[in-house]
Amino acid sequence: MALSFFTKNKKTLQARCRDDYATKMRLKYAPFYLAMDGQKGTTVKLNGREMIMLSSNDYLGLSFHPKAIEAGRAAMLKWGTSTTGARTSNGSRTFHLELEEKLAAFLGREACHISVAGYLACMSSVASFAQKGDVILADKNIHSCLWDGIRLSNATVERFSHNSPDDLRDVLAAVSPDSPKMMVVEGVYSMEGHIARLPELSEIAEEHGCFTVLDDAHGFGVLGRQGRGTVDHFGLNDKVDVICGSLSKSLASTGGFVAASTDVIEYLRSHSKQTIFSAAISPSQAACAQASLELMQTEPQHLEQLWANTHKYRAILKSLGLDTWESETPAVPIVLGSKERVYPFWKALLDKGVFTVMSIAPAVPAGKDLIRTAISAMHTDEQLEKIADAMAYAVKKM
Ligand SMILES: Cc1ncc(COP(=O)(O)O)c(C=O)c1O
Repeated sequence: MALSFFTKNKKTLQARCRDDYATKMRLKYAPFYLAMDGQKGTTVKLNGREMIMLSSNDYLGLSFHPKAIEAGRAAMLKWGTSTTGARTSNGSRTFHLELEEKLAAFLGREACHISVAGYLACMSSVASFAQKGDVILADKNIHSCLWDGIRLSNATVERFSHNSPDDLRDVLAAVSPDSPKMMVVEGVYSMEGHIARLPELSEIAEEHGCFTVLDDAHGFGVLGRQGRGTVDHFGLNDKVDVICGSLSKSLASTGGFVAASTDVIEYLRSHSKQTIFSAAISPSQAACAQASLELMQTEPQHLEQLWANTHKYRAILKSLGLDTWESETPAVPIVLGSKERVYPFWKALLDKGVFTVMSIAPAVPAGKDLIRTAISAMHTDEQLEKIADAMAYAVKKM
């Protein structure tokens, strides 16, 4: 009997995988998981054809910087390919501590902890601190990793309208003043390109005693002095308890970080399952991130170029009458409103040699189906001209 029970369930799950509608559609239209067969900066090769990459998160364009590449190579020669273990047990190395100290100092924090993925770092920034009985106030548009952290924490969640201090205030009015509270926001929203209204949000959060977690995956490297991020951009370092983010965007590596006071970081190291039971970031990943962090402080031209390119690019989209959801940053969506409009637009750009990414509901709110694009400091004027031609072509094809 027991055997047939297991067999039946296995078959049900196999059928679920085989018959899944989303997977069938993805494989039919094949817009995702496209594997490039070459890359040099913002030029990639897809099936042997050169294309302009217009949707990476390499905002500062450091992923091909000779100093970052050399740092990764040297670290691998010195430390090997992997630490093959968790920080808690056999995987901790002095280069982890060095990068953490440098990140903490850059962000004006006492301490920092790094993980193998931004996803894990940001998830643990919520899950490690909130618990059953707490109330989490979450912006409706936060990233999936933060929602996962909220679910894992078992805290009660109250959503407030995207970037709306008024709604946050209304939602908080109905929450017991005695409940421990956490507010979770992003610094720069990755799909929308919006900057958090942090001065107003953090003031309300403070009035209500909220512990504030800010995911700055897309603000780090882009906003603030030398790219210190959204909190620095507003000069609100004392108002945010935890800044988490990714090493895989402006820092041109892979991994994530959590920066906070020493008490908070040591608590995370005791309670974050994502840290305790997961292998440490590899030598070359840490070294590339550290080299990029140094470049952010010694070569300001990358940040300047990023913003110059962003302004040029936004002007191109504006001249074509495209809806960019009032993006204020290098992450620029092109909102088209339905998947029927998004697909031909994306395909037209691809045909013209511009690589972008589609994002359709439920990944974005209904009616906001969009093409996600992001500008890099590495885009050249010539590439921006080609992008402008491709956009004009895609608009006509819609
Ligand atoms: C807001 C936000 N947080 C966290 C992450 C996860 O970072 P990573 O890709 O380094 O895992 C992302 C990645 O897209 C993101 O956009």
